[in-house]
Amino acid sequence: MKNIKFITPQEAVKVVKSNDRVHMHSVAVTPHPLIKALCERGRNKEFRNVRIQHIHTEGEVDYANPEFEGIFQLESFFVAHNVRKQTQAGYADYIPVFLQETQRLIREGYLKVNVAMIQVSVPDKFGYVSLGTSVDATLAAVEKADTVIAIVNPNVPRAFGDAMIHINEIDLFCEDDSELVTAEPGPISDTDRKIGGYVAELVEDGATLQMGIGAIPNAVLTMLGNHKDLGVHSEMFADGILPLVDKGVVNGKNKKIDKGKMVATFLMGSKKLYDFVDDNPGVLMNDVRYSNRVNVIAKNPKVTAINSALQIDITGQVCADSIGTKFYSGVGGQIDFLRGASLSRGGKPIIAMPSVTNKGISKIAPILTPGAGVVSTRANIHWLVTEYGAVNLYGRTLQDRAKLIISIAHPEHQEELDKAAFERFGPHFHFIWDEQ
Ligand code: COA
Repeated sequence: MKNIKFITPQEAVKVVKSNDRVHMHSVAVTPHPLIKALCERGRNKEFRNVRIQHIHTEGEVDYANPEFEGIFQLESFFVAHNVRKQTQAGYADYIPVFLQETQRLIREGYLKVNVAMIQVSVPDKFGYVSLGTSVDATLAAVEKADTVIAIVNPNVPRAFGDAMIHINEIDLFCEDDSELVTAEPGPISDTDRKIGGYVAELVEDGATLQMGIGAIPNAVLTMLGNHKDLGVHSEMFADGILPLVDKGVVNGKNKKIDKGKMVATFLMGSKKLYDFVDDNPGVLMNDVRYSNRVNVIAKNPKVTAINSALQIDITGQVCADSIGTKFYSGVGGQIDFLRGASLSRGGKPIIAMPSVTNKGISKIAPILTPGAGVVSTRANIHWLVTEYGAVNLYGRTLQDRAKLIISIAHPEHQEELDKAAFERFGPHFHFIWDEQ
């Protein structure tokens, strides 16, 4: 094993030079000490035009702030809350890409990575460290970067799957023992509970689940306590899954691949979640090229993919990345999983969202707001769920879809949506036979 020599983050980030691209490890293992040291060099104007790349980081970061114009340029694969304002104002930028293919941009050289900044677990006796809670596109960056800088942190869980790398792949080492960024599960509102109930009814025994972070997936999970033999093959999971693992509801018995194991590419949750994956051979933290690959996802039976949306039009076009022209998040893994679920035997792609925003705006609209991007097309959509019910749009005509979608809109908005559908489709709209 090579003898590790630790240096300070300030010393380590000296490798970065003008015009480099720096890949940052993401989510809970965001390497904050390196980011702070890099920003300090940026403030001192020691370089220019340094591109910063990541899926998304968590916690406060400065590199996207206006003070760094001409010094840093953020090219994120997903717009998270910590850079949202700056991205909307144009100081930071976003690369639209399927999450599955983020690693490909790096591996196939579309985006040259000069320096990768990561955070890893302490080395084991064979010299292996773990990328912990985020493998995503970071493994690709480790493989391709000219220089890899790692913070060794005892709080990074020793996760398996593709997460294990050898210290020989790392060039510079720093030490830190700060806690990882955590997200405690929030309260579940009545609306989320109703949506969760409709979604839970769609989940069959033996299903393989994919779900994102947030109140709706959490609400769904609280209602699956009497289900049997569920599995997890997801982009991520959070604390909501833990009680189901404890009860034996999630056991992966029915999975065709990675039987008995839970698959994800990143995690975000409480310390309890990070402890759960530490040294746990039942969890595979995999490269995003595996976790999010459509034909891999489709191999498991009854893949039930639960994703959300910002807006949907009455024909079933889903916007999940922007509010009009303002970027809010990103394409992420939505299409990877909707498609994978659609191709899985007995699979169910689901979009679940409240019918109105917290400001009372209908999320179901006659047409998408100008500038809104279609993340999932009409052809990708099967189940749509709001607090007013669940409808299946798969194989339905445009006019049928409009009726079904409007039937689960907020009652206060149904009349105006109905009128818009009538104007769009003509008088015939009102004479179609009801539900088959
Ligand atoms: N019009 C105007 N504003 C809207 C809106 C609409 N149609 N829909 C939502 N908003 C506003 C909300 O009011 C809220 O505003 P606030 O931040 O001021 O409170 C904000 O947008 C977020 O809405 P919310 O419904 O709370 O979003 P969410 O946190 O549940 O996230 C997505 C929903 C779609 C953004 C999220 O699921 C996502 O990023 N999806 C794309 C990626 C993906 O699906 N990946 C796979 C799973 S990990």
